[in-house]
Amino acid sequence: MREKLELIKQNALEELKKIATKEDMESIRVKYLGKKGELTSILRGMGALSKEERPIVGKLANEIRENLENIIGETLDKIKNKEKELRLQKEVIDISMPGKKQIVGKRHPLDLTLENINDIFISMGFSIEEGPEVEKDYYNFEALNIPKDHPARGEQDTFYINDNVVLRTQTSPIQIRTMEKEKPPIKMIAPGKVYRSDELDATHSPIFYQIEGLVVDKGITFSDLKGTLQTFFKKMFGDNMEIKFRPHHFPFTEPSAEVDVTCFVCGGKGCKVCKNSGWIEMLGCGMVHPDVLRNCGIDPEVYSGFAFGFGLDRIVMLKYGIDDIRFLYESDMRFLNQFK
Ligand code: DAH
Repeated sequence: MREKLELIKQNALEELKKIATKEDMESIRVKYLGKKGELTSILRGMGALSKEERPIVGKLANEIRENLENIIGETLDKIKNKEKELRLQKEVIDISMPGKKQIVGKRHPLDLTLENINDIFISMGFSIEEGPEVEKDYYNFEALNIPKDHPARGEQDTFYINDNVVLRTQTSPIQIRTMEKEKPPIKMIAPGKVYRSDELDATHSPIFYQIEGLVVDKGITFSDLKGTLQTFFKKMFGDNMEIKFRPHHFPFTEPSAEVDVTCFVCGGKGCKVCKNSGWIEMLGCGMVHPDVLRNCGIDPEVYSGFAFGFGLDRIVMLKYGIDDIRFLYESDMRFLNQFK
């Protein structure tokens, strides 16, 4: 019996030397120390031994079991450590590698300037209205006194979706939509994108921004229009800004005017931007045509109003000295990153 035990010990130690994985280790543990293992079955068969032999063999068997358990435990630890080392070697982090730069977005110059403009009009009691970019011909033209055969249609190169639907060529249709849904007093601005089938070049883009203004109430006069625009431009560009009106024609206003403002690049002294005139052409405006009021169910005998419309892109370009409108629509980060 004693020899048998010694032999089991020898064999087990031999096998343990060759072990490389946790799995092999487990199978050896089962083979010798498991419920049906070689050592276990010897301990179980001890009943057949004599009284004298039993404690001696029992002690020896237990010693061998303890011995094997210890060796298995130690070897298992070694294997685990080795595996960990290998894993760490593979997962090594190169702290000298350059990091990935997160690109942080900036506000677009059109958006920055529009916010500025909105804030000024809000401080003057205006509300901000919106309308659809895909617009009915009726709102974009008809209701604004521009019937199908009107020459003004030819001036605005229109993208037609079909006979009755266009991409809006101006923000003026929002005047009509607002007058249809609200009763005077009305005091609103409506900023938005507009579309014209213009050839793309440094000063023309098929998409650009306009800001529409409309005030309708009892007793509104041309001097209200003048005062409003003057206040706006002084708040926007400083107290030295002057504005001047030139007679003009728009189908939806009567009388109509175009407005020039003091060149905000040179302050009116004359420069390349204002072609040495000291003035910059800025917007169209006028008193809302009685027919337009009537089209919206507002009685022109009781109410009157003024309207104006100007281009946002032009203001942004002049303000920042941008000489090509395409920069505003190409999303070039080198350009956009310059604005805060
Ligand atoms: N909608 C005109 C355009 O696109 C601009 C304009 C002129 C708007 C006079 C107005 C206005 O509201 O009264 O050229």
